[in-house]
Amino acid sequence: MTVDTTVTLAGVALKNPLMTASGTSGHGLELAPFFDLSILGAFVTKGVSMAPRAGNPPPRLQETPAGLLNAIGLENPGVEAFCAAALPGLATLGIPVVVNCFGEDPERTVAAVEALSRETAVTALELNVSCPNVKAGGIAFGTDPAVLRPLVEACRRATAKPLWVKLSPNVTSIVAMADAALQGGADALTCVNTLLGCDIDVKRRRFLPSPGRGGLSGPATLPVALLKVAEVHRAFPQAPIIGVGGIRRGEDALKYLLAGATAVQIGTAILVEPTAPVRILNELVELCEALGITRPADVIGAAHPGQS
Ligand SMILES: Cc1cc2nc3c(=O)[nH]c(=O)nc-3n(C[C@H](O)[C@H](O)[C@H](O)COP(=O)(O)O)c2cc1C
Repeated sequence: MTVDTTVTLAGVALKNPLMTASGTSGHGLELAPFFDLSILGAFVTKGVSMAPRAGNPPPRLQETPAGLLNAIGLENPGVEAFCAAALPGLATLGIPVVVNCFGEDPERTVAAVEALSRETAVTALELNVSCPNVKAGGIAFGTDPAVLRPLVEACRRATAKPLWVKLSPNVTSIVAMADAALQGGADALTCVNTLLGCDIDVKRRRFLPSPGRGGLSGPATLPVALLKVAEVHRAFPQAPIIGVGGIRRGEDALKYLLAGATAVQIGTAILVEPTAPVRILNELVELCEALGITRPADVIGAAHPGQS
């Protein structure tokens, strides 16, 4: 049996549903020595902002029993250096290049979106709204629908490229945030960013990572992120969703599709095993064969009653 792995995500054709997750695969071709990046459905960059950022002081990473806490602090070289140094290499891959971007306030967010939209090598933009809004006391844009909607509207006006909004799970209602992003003009929703958490160094009596808290990713987060995808799909069955959180096997990827995602992203698994996407893609195809699924695209949302 041959499996047709192609999916179309809000108008973007992908040869398979697997992508890198922002922040775990560099800004450019850092992973290229490990595997042929062109096997991916799409490459998603680490977040970029208008001005370069140094990020947080160490320790920025802390391992937990089933996940990773990170507080990188959105370190990046800035849009100009990214476009000059990293983007040309990504353009040679021949796959969609999705640039994750953010700003410290609405004006700087829109400026980054505008600048990146001028680049033909950029296929789509993924807006990270988990970034603290310095003009609102550091509260993340993506935790208040009344803040999120106008931000997405402004970004929508600033770009003709597909605009994906990456939602935060650290909210009471992800459906309210998804609604705000869609009302604002998002073409697709990435569900979800990391879950807030912390650890403690008992000898030094200090919170970890360095800012006192970080974003939890990895296997522990899969059931939480999977439910968020299911909730968003249930509320907005037509909205294209990219599922992300804890994927490390082909079966995990298929679960996200069944929950309603059209595509998935692989993050922490790549930090543990840089070639993980190759293995996960093979596993996904083998699992589809075993289950008689000729097109994974056909089973998107199939776990929901009435949709199989
Ligand atoms: C070290 C690290 C850096 C990250 N940087 C970003 C980032 O710049 N922008 C973003 O939207 N998400 C970022 N994320 C979140 C991931 O893209 C992803 O949403 C999260 O890690 C959950 O997926 P996973 O469990 O497969 O890692 C980062 C995650 C990690 C572990």
